Amino acid sequence: HRAGMLPGRQDWSSWPHYQAAEAGFRGYWYPVCFSSQVGDKPRAVTLLGERLFVIRDNGKIYGMKDRCPHRGVPLSHGDKQFPGTISCVYHGWTFDLETGDLKAAITDGPLSPICGKVTQPTYDVEERLGLVWVYIGDGEEPHPIDGQLPEELVGNPAVVGQRIQARAGNWRFACENGYDEGHAKYLHRTALWRLFKPMPVWNTTKIVKRGRWIYRVQREQYWEADFPGLGPWSGTAWYKARPPKGVRNIGNTTSHRKVNPTIAAQEFPGFASVSMPGVLRIAYPTFIHYEFYVPVDAGNHLYVGMLADFKKGVRTLPFYAKYLGAVRWLFHGQFSGQDKWMVEVTDAPPEKLYRPDDSLLQWRKLAEDTTEERLERLRAQGIEPADATA
Ligand code: FES
Repeated sequence: HRAGMLPGRQDWSSWPHYQAAEAGFRGYWYPVCFSSQVGDKPRAVTLLGERLFVIRDNGKIYGMKDRCPHRGVPLSHGDKQFPGTISCVYHGWTFDLETGDLKAAITDGPLSPICGKVTQPTYDVEERLGLVWVYIGDGEEPHPIDGQLPEELVGNPAVVGQRIQARAGNWRFACENGYDEGHAKYLHRTALWRLFKPMPVWNTTKIVKRGRWIYRVQREQYWEADFPGLGPWSGTAWYKARPPKGVRNIGNTTSHRKVNPTIAAQEFPGFASVSMPGVLRIAYPTFIHYEFYVPVDAGNHLYVGMLADFKKGVRTLPFYAKYLGAVRWLFHGQFSGQDKWMVEVTDAPPEKLYRPDDSLLQWRKLAEDTTEERLERLRAQGIEPADATA
């Protein structure tokens, strides 16, 4: 039994863009908070190492760089003195939220000559799925956000339950952990969630690409295994979970319930999939779980967990009961807490990969290829990105 079926790599030099993207990939929309958290007062956000703030005015949310150009005080300490503007708390420089133009320097009077000579950088902001999304780019026109959201969430009625948590650790470890095949079977074997969603000890897998996503397609599944010289092992023995007979499987899930028609219509090639810039999708028969790994800076990320049930009207009520009564605690809570722990303690590279890590390799390749394409596109537009990840 030889280790290293895959070429073991000691570093990440095979994926230079990925390696350089310590603080995240530019050119994407990222969720930063709940819509309900943004009102009349500025809310400070750090995204890909950039400090900005978001604020609502007349129903619309705006984003702006959170550093007053006068003396560098955070504008998020300021407030709205005039409609459609933010005034710095220190000397009252007042910026237009839409354009970033300096409209007034209150303490220099109405005819202050500095007005019209300073423009504060702004950010594109959208609201979707109850979340506020900010685009981080290099001055290019952002692509429509709907083209980046999971396709099934655009145009299908869905009810969502979400959890946002600030977490320590690099966003890449969080994303790799989410898509990591082996950890689901071993690390999470003690999670209460697994009472409801048993998994095999191991299985063979193929990663397939479809559209923007790569899918883990599980083939033979082994619910028990005999390890030479060691003995039998079953991760599911204590609660006797087995795949029921005649079950319609999506990937490796063993729920006996009917598949939701919206989910069935997607014909997902596999149970777990991932897309840029770090979005995980786990498709169960009756709902889909998503994780967005949002880079705050090199050492911190935002975990955005989201559960979507494709129902509408009164049929959404049981979802809320289920989500708030169980899923939020068991899945977005305890299960996900195990992931949080691993992301905090992972220390790679160097690393030595094994067969199930094909999921990691394929994700890095996707990130690498997609970034390469974006760089070429930007350069063709005459935009020179700031660094390798830009
Ligand atoms: Fe902002 Fe002076 S530092 S107005």
